Amino acid sequence: MLKLHNLSRSYQTDNIETMALDNVNIEIKKGEFVAIMGPSGCGKSTLLNTIGMLDNPSAGDYIFAGENVAGYSEKQLSEIRKKSIGFIFQNFNLIDELTVQENIELALIYHKIPAAERKQRVEKVMDKVGIAHRAKHLPNQLSGGQQQRVAVARAVVGDQPMILADEPTGNLDSAHGQEVMEMLQQLNAEGTTIVMVTHSPAHADYARRTIHLFDGHVVNENVRAA
Ligand SMILES: Nc1ncnc2c1ncn2[C@@H]1O[C@H](COP(=O)(O)OP(=O)(O)O)[C@@H](O)[C@H]1O
Ligand SMILES: [Mg+2]
Repeated sequence: MLKLHNLSRSYQTDNIETMALDNVNIEIKKGEFVAIMGPSGCGKSTLLNTIGMLDNPSAGDYIFAGENVAGYSEKQLSEIRKKSIGFIFQNFNLIDELTVQENIELALIYHKIPAAERKQRVEKVMDKVGIAHRAKHLPNQLSGGQQQRVAVARAVVGDQPMILADEPTGNLDSAHGQEVMEMLQQLNAEGTTIVMVTHSPAHADYARRTIHLFDGHVVNENVRAA
């Protein structure tokens, strides 16, 4: 599915160069469930954003579905991103002024899908994540666990083959965190490739492989026994 080859990302601020990612080599195959762990500031979000084409590498190659996208323009990247990648964030990132239904539907408007089909797909995915009974609510009328279900629905409604999740359970209590993990596990069982940043060893255990980062380097990888 994707391959990072000698990939680096540096930030320049006040004459100090921070190597957020330093010569990283990672391959992720289609259908994998990969966890990324490491201390705060080690480059986890930079890695996920780079994989998600929200951030550009400073050096190295990023091969996605056989194409080196490292030098692609924002317009080219956003085309690939829309087709291929759904995102889930720690803070849910829902639009406050839109209802549950509208937040999810927005992901399909970007995909230029006709209204009748949009409605049908939104209803199906709301059922799937168990939020249909809150379709007309605004995000601030929902619990954190419910908001993250909406975010999961938004990430999957476009049927993208890969989901990137940056600490998706970081703002949830353990019961709601587990619910989100079970949804991700189910999606992975249905064939979606998942890359997830987490601080929780228990949640990393849902993944088959864990990549440990430290100071912008991959320091260790473990594969869980099947
Ligand atoms: N926009 C930015 N400008 C300057 N430095 C940044 C920026 N984003 C991240 N960094 C730095 O890059 C390093 C990695 O950050 P990040 O990927 O957010 O880490 P993590 O998600 O593991 O906590 C940190 O040292 C951080 O301060
Ligand atoms: Mg982070």
